[in-house]
Amino acid sequence: MAHPATRIPKAFEFARLAERLKLPLELYARATYGHHNLTTGRLRLRPPVIDDQKRILAYRLANREHLQPWEPERDASYYTLETVEAQLTQIELDMEAKSSLHWLIQPQDSEDVLGMCSFTNIVRGAFQACHLGFSLAGTQQGKGYMHEALTAAIAHVFEVQKLHRVMANYQPDNLASEKLLQRLGFEREGYARQYLNINGAWVDHVLTSLISPGAGTYAPHHKT
Ligand SMILES: CC(C)(COP(=O)(O)OP(=O)(O)OC[C@H]1O[C@@H](n2cnc3c(N)ncnc32)[C@H](O)[C@@H]1OP(=O)(O)O)[C@@H](O)C(=O)NCCC(=O)NCCS
Repeated sequence: MAHPATRIPKAFEFARLAERLKLPLELYARATYGHHNLTTGRLRLRPPVIDDQKRILAYRLANREHLQPWEPERDASYYTLETVEAQLTQIELDMEAKSSLHWLIQPQDSEDVLGMCSFTNIVRGAFQACHLGFSLAGTQQGKGYMHEALTAAIAHVFEVQKLHRVMANYQPDNLASEKLLQRLGFEREGYARQYLNINGAWVDHVLTSLISPGAGTYAPHHKT
């Protein structure tokens, strides 16, 4: 088997084919990731593909200041197509290896990127757990979009992927994340000092988890 860093992921081949045949991106994502595409009342969730690089870069640039307090410090290369493409390649490899799941959050009727969510560090065996990360465009906050998107994504993670625990951690002053996670049913499990290096400094985080309630039963408080 080729070394992962030198192997060309399937997504590249699909991307070139989809481009030549002028296939809609959703079909292409479906061909690549099949059952991972999700639909909610107002949104579509699909894994990102290589052809999303321009719209993902546009999302990063438009939300640079909005996301800065909550994310690792980014250097200039983070805001280039080369970096986005390399990260999308890595996502493809990680999803093939079943070590993470990533979704773009989009409106039903366009390819605009409203936000993203990811379930990373998937560990099987006796743990069956992963970490959740998410972000929404600054202009789209407060409409319940992330709650709606994560309700569907978490149901998939429990019911299709059969994971048992989703862990999500937030800075104590991130009230929007705190409220969102509470409403999704996450429970506080601890407090970790200097947990992540965010925006250039080691920052404390509140540790929370959501445990699978059992097949077909994940239904957090309804919100429209
Ligand atoms: C956290 C985030 C994804 C929330 O997205 P959203 O679609 O606005 O979330 P929802 O509308 O589904 O729910 C957010 C809840 O927090 C509340 N909220 C939003 N901003 C708030 C604030 N500054 N203070 C207190 N509550 C706030 C909302 O009213 C809502 O509560 P409700 O369900 O009781 O109405 C978005 O704010 C974001 O991307 N923030 C920056 C990135 C980030 O923090 N990522 C997570 C790192 S752990």
